[in-house]
Amino acid sequence: MNLILLGPPGAGKGTQAKILEEQMGFKQLSTGDMLRAAKAAGTEIGLKAKAVMDRGDLVSDDIVIGIVSERLDQPDVKKGVVFDGFPRTPAQAEALDKLLASKGQKLNAVIEMKVDDEALVKRIVGRYTCAKCGQGYHEEFAKPKQAGTCDVCGSTEFTRRADDNEKTVRDRLHVYNTQTAPLVAYYRAQGNLHVIDGMADIAVVTREMSSVLSRVKA
Ligand code: AP5
Ligand code: MG
Ligand code: ZN
Repeated sequence: MNLILLGPPGAGKGTQAKILEEQMGFKQLSTGDMLRAAKAAGTEIGLKAKAVMDRGDLVSDDIVIGIVSERLDQPDVKKGVVFDGFPRTPAQAEALDKLLASKGQKLNAVIEMKVDDEALVKRIVGRYTCAKCGQGYHEEFAKPKQAGTCDVCGSTEFTRRADDNEKTVRDRLHVYNTQTAPLVAYYRAQGNLHVIDGMADIAVVTREMSSVLSRVKA
């Protein structure tokens, strides 16, 4: 089963994709994480993407479709993918339909996560991540059990994303509303769209997603 989580920055795509991976056997495919890894490794793609990402614009369709296409050729994604942050433009959505069809697969559901703009800004500005294992946290909404220590791996070092400041978040929101929001109509026309309230607590959102997935045909 292949699933897209569609929503603005801070909607909770990454948080829920990780939970779906752990609980339901999906493989998370986050183009943001892949581009950040390329940036950290200093690859050609990473160097091209850095400035674009840091100012909150979209990396070119060619680059992003290329990395997704390569990733979908690997064996660990055959059982089902939860796409997190991809597609983000109509051209990416059309390319994904073609890629899946060429592999004898299809898209089963698109879950749109709706969250108010001010809540999004608060979520992004308070977000941080374990530097060792990548577990995500939030200063207010998702604190580690013991302050300053990662629940998963015990590390005491954390990082913040270069694009997680108020100015860039507002620019990313504008980019979402102008370039990505048209995908809602695209997937509604395909009959794949499910809308959920992303304002609820993390566990409540997970339950709503499971309920959507239980109604979707494999
Ligand atoms: P990407 O990494 O995809 O970032 P984004 O879409 O801006 O989304 P975020 O990762 O910021 O938010 P999220 O929805 O994952 O929220 P999270 O679960 O972390 O993209 C980054 C950049 O890469 C783009 O700007 C672009 O430049 C480039 N890029 C990536 N993909 C691309 C593509 N396809 N095409 C072109 N360019 C691309 O949650 C946020 C915080 O809130 C966390 O702290 C979390 O703990 C907390 N939280 C989560 N859920 C809840 C809840 N229900 N209640 C309270 N708090 C919550
Ligand atoms: Mg994310
Ligand atoms: Zn950790």
